[in-house]
Amino acid sequence: MNVLMVCLGNICRSPMAEGILRHKISAHNLDWEVDSAGTGGWHIGQPPDHRAQAAMRVHGLDISGLRARQFSKIDFDRFDLILTMDNENYRDVIHMANLPVQKNKVKPILDYAFPGQHRGVPDPYFNDRFQEVYNLLDASCEVLIKSYL
Ligand code: 4NP
Repeated sequence: MNVLMVCLGNICRSPMAEGILRHKISAHNLDWEVDSAGTGGWHIGQPPDHRAQAAMRVHGLDISGLRARQFSKIDFDRFDLILTMDNENYRDVIHMANLPVQKNKVKPILDYAFPGQHRGVPDPYFNDRFQEVYNLLDASCEVLIKSYL
């Protein structure tokens, strides 16, 4: 399975989600591909925000090697599952989809841990709540991976 994590800048939430899911995949010996992208292009080529890197390091995870890129329509073909961090990301990605098969790949990531609650991962770029983001993403990635074991 190929999974793409999507947020706005691809320097905070989606690279954290990528790192968390990658770790769980290797722990369970699954043969999945994971990547991340941003709907915006301001940070293309940049490593994750240093605060995101630090929040991940607390849990023993290193995401310093990731580099930001922008979501593109090609991603609808390359990935089976496109997981958005908040409602704005979800709307932006859905608007880029032309076909129902593409739209069906797009899901809010917190629907896994909090079904029916329509929760979004708060943007930590301005409020610094990186550990809260970690906990939300870890909970959802755990439910996601368990549903495939
Ligand atoms: P992210 O956070 O979408 O979780 O990567 C943000 C990063 C940068 C900006 C906004 C959110 N920005 O406005 O540059």
